[in-house]
Amino acid sequence: MVNNYHIPVLLNEVIEYIINPSIENHIIVDCTVGGGGHSLEIAKRILPSGKLICVDRDENAIYYSQKRFKECLIKAEFLKGNFSNLKELLLKIKINHVTGILLDLGLSSYQLENEDGFSFMRDTELDMRVDKTQKLKARDLINKFGKKELEFIFKEYGEIKNYKKLTNLIIKSRKSKNVNTTFDFIEILKKGFGNNIKENFLAKVFQALRIYVNSELDNLKKVLRDSLTLLINGGRIVVISYHSLEDRIVKNFFKENSMKKVFCDGMQYKLLKILTKKPIVPSLNEIRTNRKSRSAKLRAAELIICK
Ligand SMILES: C[S@@+](CC[C@H](N)C(=O)[O-])C[C@H]1O[C@@H](n2cnc3c(N)ncnc32)[C@H](O)[C@@H]1O
Repeated sequence: MVNNYHIPVLLNEVIEYIINPSIENHIIVDCTVGGGGHSLEIAKRILPSGKLICVDRDENAIYYSQKRFKECLIKAEFLKGNFSNLKELLLKIKINHVTGILLDLGLSSYQLENEDGFSFMRDTELDMRVDKTQKLKARDLINKFGKKELEFIFKEYGEIKNYKKLTNLIIKSRKSKNVNTTFDFIEILKKGFGNNIKENFLAKVFQALRIYVNSELDNLKKVLRDSLTLLINGGRIVVISYHSLEDRIVKNFFKENSMKKVFCDGMQYKLLKILTKKPIVPSLNEIRTNRKSRSAKLRAAELIICK
């Protein structure tokens, strides 16, 4: 199968960090399987003695990657669900400890190019739900949310300086016409910010809506917390983030937990050992062949309960 779905970012680096060579029987959970690019390579290295669990919130991703695995005759367990419920998802298959947790945040190329609302380049419904069973769509925010809520979303999740002007514009425009599509929304933005709105500005506005609709930052904080009880001694967590809000959460979480101490056999250890002093970023060559990788930052840490 030709992989147009998504090109995995920092593939070799993910493999290097997620597999602790001193552990024998791996149980690795890829919380964001997408097109299965990272998962397939992990599976090749840890099967048959190990186990791979693939999670995604998006039904299409589960369907596609499951099919891809079947064609490659590689076995894995697939679970559709939100990684913020990782403990509960794993309990369903009677797993309460793992040796590795991978989070490759954001969207796949398939989602950006085919699913509704994510791209400001295509005229589609202003939807932006990763999980299509969820009720709230991005257009509901634009049509129904109050001033304070919209200001908060654009300020906190888009880091937009003109968040007040943007909110006032939306509130004024929606009185005469409901917003249903991405282009309806962009029409409104053009009224206030001119016909030549910068792509960077549009990207920030769309990012803010997407983060809110999918509770992206809360989901990330929850799975990071859960990783501390799910990982075994020496187990590793690897996170690839694509914007500064996510990266800051991961960086601070690793830092805080690397300062906590655990006691074992009269010795004191750090709870998390940070494996990447600085975030790992794609090489120029990777960025040249896959432009979507350009904002990626990888951070990895290892849980130390006892040496
Ligand atoms: C960048 S893609 C992953 C690509 C994948 N690593 C690959 O190699 O093809 C991110 C994936 O995470 C999924 N996702 C985003 N938020 C999620 C969440 N809270 N729970 C589970 N999956 C999520 C998206 O649906 C998407 O498929």
